[in-house]
Amino acid sequence: MEPFMANTGFNNIIDMAFGPDGKLYMIEYGTKWFAQNLDARLVRIDYNGGNRTPVAQLSVDKPSGAVPLAVKFSSKGSKDYDTGDSLSYILEVGGKTYNSNNGTFEVTLDKPGVYNAKLKVTDDKGNSANAVTQVTAGNEPPVIKASIVEGNKTFFFPNTKLKYSVEVTDKEDGSTADGKIAGDAVTISFDYMKGFDMAKVAQGHQMPTAELPGKALIAKSDCKSCHIIDQRSAGPSYKEVAAKYKSQTGAIDYLAAKIIKGGSGVWGNTEMAAHPQISVEDAKEMVNYILSLADEKAAKKLPLSGTVTTGNETQGAYLLTISYYDKGAAPVPSIGTNATVVLRSPMLKANEATDLNIVRVLNWDGNIAFENVKHTAHAKFAELDLTGVKKAKLLPYLGDDQVGGEVEIHLDKPDGKLLGKAKIAGKGLVPQTISLETTTGYHDLYLVFKNEGAGNKSLFYFGGVELLNK
Ligand code: HEC
Repeated sequence: MEPFMANTGFNNIIDMAFGPDGKLYMIEYGTKWFAQNLDARLVRIDYNGGNRTPVAQLSVDKPSGAVPLAVKFSSKGSKDYDTGDSLSYILEVGGKTYNSNNGTFEVTLDKPGVYNAKLKVTDDKGNSANAVTQVTAGNEPPVIKASIVEGNKTFFFPNTKLKYSVEVTDKEDGSTADGKIAGDAVTISFDYMKGFDMAKVAQGHQMPTAELPGKALIAKSDCKSCHIIDQRSAGPSYKEVAAKYKSQTGAIDYLAAKIIKGGSGVWGNTEMAAHPQISVEDAKEMVNYILSLADEKAAKKLPLSGTVTTGNETQGAYLLTISYYDKGAAPVPSIGTNATVVLRSPMLKANEATDLNIVRVLNWDGNIAFENVKHTAHAKFAELDLTGVKKAKLLPYLGDDQVGGEVEIHLDKPDGKLLGKAKIAGKGLVPQTISLETTTGYHDLYLVFKNEGAGNKSLFYFGGVELLNK
């Protein structure tokens, strides 16, 4: 068979051909065009008609730390598709070989260095597979402690000042407290995140991160084959694009359209491929990220302790993000640690509630509310710092056949201390702001719905509660 070339439409350009041994060989050139790529590789695809090779996986409990470093290696996730095959495990690390029948190893690394560990998993027919991982001994990762020292520790409130404090300790470098780590070696930023959704974070679908959504979109697309942040590649660097367009009106629309349509002539004769599959909104998010690189430096560098101020927002979240890369000590490279303090929106939405009694969560075209709100129904919002919370804005909606009733807010239990209550009547959306008895520290809040005379009738829909600090 003739070798052929295929542009997969994804990141990598590949060549494939069958070899004289009947096996399929594939060259992946890697992610960048016309470059020596670290991820370029030759792959052999074997067809194995009988016993299948096992799958090897290797993980460690501590990927880095000071010496002597006691590491537990685990083969968890390794498996054999042929039931009944028993597996044996051999670990090679630091020039030594260890055997195990259960796939776990405890090894102490005494000398500083970067260790490449290799696990070989073999089935009883003699087929084997390898997995590798890296352990850095001789450098303990830095530890970051960050806290809000004045203000609410769960929520941000619009147009409010917050006092924070950060402390970094590193076994090798010293600490910010003893002055051996300088304040400007620690990167601290305070950012608003529009799309931050507490319900998704609670379910583990979203990680707290201060990154703009466009960064992830770019990472998922083919852009990196022609663009690098601060270096010319086939296309201009993102930093030079940012510098050229940052104060130009209409730049976002123009650049988003160019990403979708492609073209050449602005930076030279090389052509940017078209991206018809990218939506206008996504292209704009990409441009927002690219343009943000123009003032990357200016946005950072908050001091180790200080005051930050929130804006007008009531949705999303504010993130205090801290990172420190230690100095490392040859032959051991630097290790970085990140920490994030999330201050969530003061809007408590129905889909964040737990311990639902009678009520259900309705998602109607993205409008989220409690439905089936009947007498004695309740719902809990767990573990909230109530420091500085003075009022609550309730968001009920009365449909045609709904009879209204009362909302009560109780502390810690459905029949705990009553912080405030409101009568709900009328039709349609009837927001209402009530005063709450103030309290401090972390508590659960219970919403309790009442109307003894309503029988089995529904009282209203209930969208949620916005907590207010004034
Ligand atoms: C095949 C290579 C290639 C790919 C893939 C590519 N670009 Fe480009 N890009 C270019 C070239 C070449 C230029 C310069 C075009 C010109 O001179 O008008 C460019 C220009 C740009 C510009 C500046 C446009 C202008 O008119 O000044 C932006 C913004 C940009 N690219 C973003 C992206 C994004 C985002 C992606 C991924 C979705 C991407 N590019 C994918 C090659 C590429």
